Amino acid sequence: MNRMTLLASACLVFLWGWQSTQAQPAQAQPAQAQPAQAQPAPVAPTPAAPDTYKPTVGQMGKDVVWVPTHQALVDRMLDMAKVTPQDYLVDLGSGDGRTVITAAKRGVRAHGIEYNPDLVAVSRRAAQAEGVAERATFAQADIFQSDFSDATVVTLFLLHTLNERLRPTLLAMRPGTRVVSNTFTMGDWEADQQYEHKGECSSFCRAYLWIIPADAAGEWRLGEDRLVLRQTYQMLSGTLTRDGQELPITEAKMDGNRIAFTAGNRRYTGELAEGRITGRTEDGAEWSATRAPG
Ligand SMILES: C[S@@+](CC[C@H](N)C(=O)[O-])C[C@H]1O[C@@H](n2cnc3c(N)ncnc32)[C@H](O)[C@@H]1O
Repeated sequence: MNRMTLLASACLVFLWGWQSTQAQPAQAQPAQAQPAQAQPAPVAPTPAAPDTYKPTVGQMGKDVVWVPTHQALVDRMLDMAKVTPQDYLVDLGSGDGRTVITAAKRGVRAHGIEYNPDLVAVSRRAAQAEGVAERATFAQADIFQSDFSDATVVTLFLLHTLNERLRPTLLAMRPGTRVVSNTFTMGDWEADQQYEHKGECSSFCRAYLWIIPADAAGEWRLGEDRLVLRQTYQMLSGTLTRDGQELPITEAKMDGNRIAFTAGNRRYTGELAEGRITGRTEDGAEWSATRAPG
């Protein structure tokens, strides 16, 4: 085993070890893993590092250690999110800034939130060196104390437990916002897409994408017909009462503001905006629905 493999393995064990401590009951958790409101006042960050500072893989972060995402996976995560120059990307726990800088090189305005001031300094220097400092910005801050609600793309490489802590905040973001995580999932919120990078990436090579769904749950009127939707994250179930006949809906899902479901062998697609759904069935007929009063 060469030194690089040894180092990578040590980091892997370290990060997963850290993850397993997070799953312990609250009283057994290390101080770093306590929920924000239970934490002692944050320790004042150390001054930014000199120009020669080099981060070490596996070094302690606030809630999770620093391990960089493999560049090939960074590229793929941005592809999965379909980033465009119209997007505003925020990387939560931005490390050495690679995701933010890669996005900025694609013309995207991007921002990293990183607790470690040394990593923030490294990131700013790298953004400068790559000529994207105007589009790639960094803040030294705690992600759990930061407002990133205006992002249209959020990237993460944290832990399952931290993702789950962020989940309510993410679900409250604008429908259509894309969330992409390296390796760690979101509990029972199933990903819309996943990808595993094979080849040059040897650890932490899986990416998950979620698209924040609009809230479609409730009762809708389609003229004389009635659509009842139950919603768990992006997944829908329910019934369509058409011409007096109650049909179960299947293959039903939200994709941001877009809705799609099948009822009685007919596929419905549409878009939800301002309390109204408008769309077409697969045979081209227009349909629309409004929320039932009350
Ligand atoms: C696994 S690294 C990922 C770095 C980068 N996003 C990437 O994919 O290359 C996690 C980063 O989160 C930072 N971090 C940990 N807890 C944090 C917190 N509460 N607020 C801000 N940054 C945090 C760590 O310092 C570390 O740089």
